[in-house]
Amino acid sequence: MQGFATKVGLGPALTSIFRMLNVHNLGVSFGGVPLFEGISFRLGPGDRVGLIGKNGAGKSTMLKVLAKDIDPDQGSLASDKEMSLGFLRQDIDFEQGRTVVEEAQQAFVEIKALEKKLETVNQELAERTDYESESYNQLMIDLNDLQHRYEIIGGYNYQGDTERILQGLGFKREEFGKLTETFSGGWRMRIELAKLLLQQNDVLLLDEPTNHLDIESIIWLEHFLSSYPGAVVIVSHDKMFLDNVTNRTIEIVLGRIYDYNKPYSKYLLLRDEIREQQLAAQKNQEKHIQHTEKLIEKFRAKASKASMAQSLIKKLDRIDRIEVDQDDNAVMSIRFPVSVTPGKVVVEAESIGKNYGQKEVLREIDLMIERGTKPLL
Ligand SMILES: Nc1ncnc2c1ncn2[C@@H]1O[C@H](COP(=O)(O)OP(=O)(O)O)[C@@H](O)[C@H]1O
Ligand SMILES: [Mg+2]
Repeated sequence: MQGFATKVGLGPALTSIFRMLNVHNLGVSFGGVPLFEGISFRLGPGDRVGLIGKNGAGKSTMLKVLAKDIDPDQGSLASDKEMSLGFLRQDIDFEQGRTVVEEAQQAFVEIKALEKKLETVNQELAERTDYESESYNQLMIDLNDLQHRYEIIGGYNYQGDTERILQGLGFKREEFGKLTETFSGGWRMRIELAKLLLQQNDVLLLDEPTNHLDIESIIWLEHFLSSYPGAVVIVSHDKMFLDNVTNRTIEIVLGRIYDYNKPYSKYLLLRDEIREQQLAAQKNQEKHIQHTEKLIEKFRAKASKASMAQSLIKKLDRIDRIEVDQDDNAVMSIRFPVSVTPGKVVVEAESIGKNYGQKEVLREIDLMIERGTKPLL
């Protein structure tokens, strides 16, 4: 915690207890086609998870389910009622008219509300003269309580924290007062990220957070997240970022998950090792089965060995067949022949079809585009 407070992290933690999220037997389908089924895992303080899988494996969908943007078809999420969750979505919508600092400080709802209350109480105290009355005394007690709470939840640090985080994410001091709508999408994403980091949620979900960051900000974010006290789940194509930040990897493969306490590269090695071990074990088992089957055949031929054959058959039935974890090997094969001057035909497509789940978008499309033509699609 100390390093967290002094380096790039926040001032004294707003809450010292970070809460868990339990995912139980989760299943999601689109149009009756299951995307994943029977998925269970638990997220706790200090878990920094890289959520990986091929395009379309269901990473973004998983984040949306965790954030309760969409309901799962089966299973449940369980957590403490007070668990807080922040989600960096791919599409961000800001209210217009706020400056960068104002938007980032939306993170501090309670602090802001307390500031208003403090102001009111102070105002009243300044105007009143009934110093000896019971109600004046009560006001003094209220003020003391409010100030105490204000300090506990970081009221004296949040402005410094905001500036530090905005600067870490690449904002210059002179930009703090500019309206958010004057920034490009990539920079607005940084403002949203700053807000989420300031909130210190129990669970932080980040979908491709490095997409709009330059190298300095990526390194800053790596440091920040490495000491994040809650749980973080990150979807990213940036392997180095995952290696530097995560301590756990959950891979979605063909509708199920593999979950190991290893960062990305080490996880990949481990997965290969496990698959090789499974393959070797499966091969051995196969040999054993074949051997037994041969024996059975031999024994069957002799009346005196019939009972032995029977018991071998039973034994064979009881064997649990070793399975090898599946890998999603599906690849799309597209080739673009290289040619210096394009031929007369630029694109020739025959009988193209495309479905999203059960929704058919294209069926048996034939298309020919010739050089020099500008077809309207
Ligand atoms: N709202 C939706 N309706 C129908 N299909 C969807 C919807 N959202 C996602 N999908 C499909 O679910 C699959 C997983 O999508 P997604 O979670 O975005 O994958 P990833 O983030 O791993 O690339 C894709 O095949 C996608 O087309
Ligand atoms: Mg995605």
